[in-house]
Amino acid sequence: MCGIVGILGTEPVAEDLIDALKRLEYRGYDSAGVSTVENGVLGRCRAKGKLKNLQKALNEAPLQGHAGIGHTRWATHGAPNVTNAHPHMTDRVAVVHNGIIENFKPLRERLEKEGAKFETDTDTEVIVHLISLELKKGSAPEQAVQAVLTQLEGAFALAIIFAGHDDLMIGARRGSPLAIGYGEKEMYLGSDAIALAPFTDRVAYLEDGDWVRLSRTSATIIDERGQEVERTINRSTASAMLVDKGNHRHFMAKEIHQQPEVIGHTLGHYVDLATNRVQIPDFDIDFKTLPRLTISACGTAYYAGLVAKYWFEKYARLPVEIDVASEMRYREAPMEPGGLALFISQSGETADTLAVLRYCRAQKQHVAAIVNVTESTIARESDATLPTLAGPEIGVASTKAFTCQLTVLACLAIKAGVERGHISIEQEMELVSQLVEVPRHISTILNDEHLFEKMAHGLAHKRDVLYLGRGSSFPIALEGALKLKEISYIHAEGYAAGELKHGPIALIDEDVPVVVVAPKDNLFEKTVSNMEEVAARGGQIILMTDDKEAAASFTTSSSFVVPRAHEFTNPLVFAVPIQLLAYHTAVFMGTDVDQPRNLAKSVTVE
Ligand code: F6R
Repeated sequence: MCGIVGILGTEPVAEDLIDALKRLEYRGYDSAGVSTVENGVLGRCRAKGKLKNLQKALNEAPLQGHAGIGHTRWATHGAPNVTNAHPHMTDRVAVVHNGIIENFKPLRERLEKEGAKFETDTDTEVIVHLISLELKKGSAPEQAVQAVLTQLEGAFALAIIFAGHDDLMIGARRGSPLAIGYGEKEMYLGSDAIALAPFTDRVAYLEDGDWVRLSRTSATIIDERGQEVERTINRSTASAMLVDKGNHRHFMAKEIHQQPEVIGHTLGHYVDLATNRVQIPDFDIDFKTLPRLTISACGTAYYAGLVAKYWFEKYARLPVEIDVASEMRYREAPMEPGGLALFISQSGETADTLAVLRYCRAQKQHVAAIVNVTESTIARESDATLPTLAGPEIGVASTKAFTCQLTVLACLAIKAGVERGHISIEQEMELVSQLVEVPRHISTILNDEHLFEKMAHGLAHKRDVLYLGRGSSFPIALEGALKLKEISYIHAEGYAAGELKHGPIALIDEDVPVVVVAPKDNLFEKTVSNMEEVAARGGQIILMTDDKEAAASFTTSSSFVVPRAHEFTNPLVFAVPIQLLAYHTAVFMGTDVDQPRNLAKSVTVE
């Protein structure tokens, strides 16, 4: 999603704006721009594509203003070209925007009738013209912005600078996140604390409906009722975060390799390693009497929830309803008051997930969230927050956040099983000890990473790939297909292996590789039958299993054997080979692994 940064500095800010935008690159973007105000005059520089293009353009036409705003744009309205790149401006005002202005069409029609000349296809440009009109009527910048905010529908974060005002910046938040950074005689705005980390670790988050007036020495925050309010200034840990690739070629590779460590950290938070018992801090839901669990999330986080459905149902006998958030938010699902609604989100900002959270709250559900960003909106709007301790995930394709989500969900499922009387203390200790083994199993898999390079050659340049799995391996097959398609651009679909003959088998021929996720569990033989059906039709099987004999005896085009783990922890273990397969295929194909085309890291629009 778009990234926003604003600096009221004491020296020219253009270079610092670019540095901050670099730290927001992970969110995904297709053009970028900066604008500064210098001796009262607004200047702007924009470029299509990566920040190096913007840097080049700035070298040719430097901006010297000490106050400025910057933006990385992920196109929603209008093609990703220079004209549509932010900031948008008139000679009076420059604006950067993250989100969508839903009523931009009627606003634009009205403005055009009043004589405004539009240059872009964006929704954002209406904001610029609306503010300019107010300023023209003689309003002060604060009044102008306030008047315009009331006319906008949709979700947005804005940073705005004004001609004639070198010590003023206005930020506003409705839906999309916006943070204020407090410096020494300097002030900042940013989409997240990571962007602000080089400048300051003193960060406050605007609440929904807030807007802020910044000078170099002050921040005045006004809430949605027009009241001046204080928002807590936190010490952000983002400055301690190293946003670099270490010895790895891509962030995704680094993050795959961090998994043993971060799963270990996450486990350390949720289990007492001395007793092998689960201990969930700040979580007082009583599973014993809970009638129902509702889970909602998007993409990879949804697949983590789907694995958890198998766990909660089998180990805790707890009925689970799960749906992707984009569907659940409009389904008007009836809910018995008193249920638990659980949301899973790496960013904690996903618009659809947040919308379901608010729906569930209105349905009188307890709201809990598993998030990686603890200052996020989803975390702040939940009754209980269960952090994943994955550290910042920069690669757009989720890897370590997924396995850390599974780790938290596994602990929750054990807790639920114990409280509901379906898991004895001995069984709890056994399951926890199996979880504790997971980092070691993953390290073993990572030591064999070179094997995936060869396997990837078999997938690269194929048109379609199928992924099959049964039971809790089914969501892993779905995740495998998602990982492959999003970073290699090869069309891939995941299916429940038993569904094969209900349609997808028609696709099988010698050109369609089929990746089978088949741990030696109670469903193994059934999955083997499905592999036979594929092989009989000339399909090329890539087998992921923990059964050496099966891997050796079955005719597959290639196979990978993971360490034998407990059936309960298999989804965590098998998540890693499917990540490695997707990663090496994408590297072989030469795609932009960390920032695949069209994708954004944090999806703050619908
Ligand atoms: C895929 C991926 C996405 C996210 C989804 C939800 O690799 O990363 O599918 O899982 O956009 O994002 P969060 O977890 O931030 O809510």
